[in-house]
Amino acid sequence: MKHPVYLDYNATTPIDPEVIKEMIPFIDSLYGNPSSSYSIGRSNKEAVEKARSQVAEFINCNQEEIVFTSCATESNNLAIKGIAWANKDKGRHIITSAIEHPAVTEVCKYLSSQGFEITYLPVDQYGRVDPEQVKEVIRPDTVLITIMHANNEVGTIQPIREIGAIARQKNIAFHTDASQSAGKIETDVNKLGVDLLTIAGHKLYAPKGIGALYIQKGTRIENLMHGAGQERGMRPGTENVIHTVGLGKACEVALRDYKQNQHNMMASRDRLLDGLVSRLGNKVHVIGKLENCLPNTLSVAFENVSAHALASFIGSDVLISTGSACHSGETTISSVLQAMNLDFRTATATVRVSTGKRTMEKEIDFAVEVLVNAIKKLTL
Ligand SMILES: Cc1ncc(COP(=O)(O)O)c(C=O)c1O
Repeated sequence: MKHPVYLDYNATTPIDPEVIKEMIPFIDSLYGNPSSSYSIGRSNKEAVEKARSQVAEFINCNQEEIVFTSCATESNNLAIKGIAWANKDKGRHIITSAIEHPAVTEVCKYLSSQGFEITYLPVDQYGRVDPEQVKEVIRPDTVLITIMHANNEVGTIQPIREIGAIARQKNIAFHTDASQSAGKIETDVNKLGVDLLTIAGHKLYAPKGIGALYIQKGTRIENLMHGAGQERGMRPGTENVIHTVGLGKACEVALRDYKQNQHNMMASRDRLLDGLVSRLGNKVHVIGKLENCLPNTLSVAFENVSAHALASFIGSDVLISTGSACHSGETTISSVLQAMNLDFRTATATVRVSTGKRTMEKEIDFAVEVLVNAIKKLTL
């Protein structure tokens, strides 16, 4: 068992050994430029196209509907600004939710400074958007709906299929940020009914510095970068072949092992919660609803315990994150917990624990022990 025990897989994941193996030849010797016509160039081009087909198969789309980017933030920027700029003659209204990652919210804020109007939909106490409310706020000038597939802090899964059906009916482009859901729950773009979908490599056992955006064929979108014609002009610049190959392999592995991984992540998450509840009883409050949550995520508050104090107290043994930030003695609550209307006391007591596909029972049992001892010491 590795020490400290890592239980923050929503922050990032280690690179899968199978992924590393696939990348090594491109680090070692296959250094050609995919645009070159001689053999090491061609082999790089083929590797990028193989990765594209692996990502496409993973989310059930056509190869030419995948654009490689540097990260989820870039994919979200390309999706949101790209749709906004391409359709500004049709309208300047965008619908999003109050619980998006800054990689969406900040893009929306920027667009609002450029004359776009943004509607931020509220969520219920479990962090879920109501599709009926999406319907209600649609206007004739709405050009984009962007709602995340699953939330990074509390794990709540959004009703993407229902929203997708509404968007289709109204002929409005629909983007979802699937950074957290890919590899944990199904991300089949046809079933979800989305036009654009964001993938983050490093949340999926691929390296940091690689992402992808699914853009449904026929979608009116502008590219943000201009240069040579790589990625069919949508994202010019010499391809990051090493990481692209890694993302492709990670998607192949995620698709192949999907059921087993989902089972393991959920079994470890549930073992952790059971362990905590059996030792601490009603001091444990689950934030959100486990029936509608990512299988690996547990957002939980411990009564009368500061989340910050807890995370730093156990930090050399177990790695978790908190739903609030502490700067110069002042505590700010995350926008997600605020949108869920959590009271200050509960929000400042909320931690996020997220398990991985290889999290072991003994790691969970150790984490329970460490958490319980710390909570007993720290209870106010
Ligand atoms: C839901 C979601 N979207 C976007 C991002 C941004 O990912 P990156 O920093 O890799 O661009 C994250 C990262 O935590 C995330 O959880």
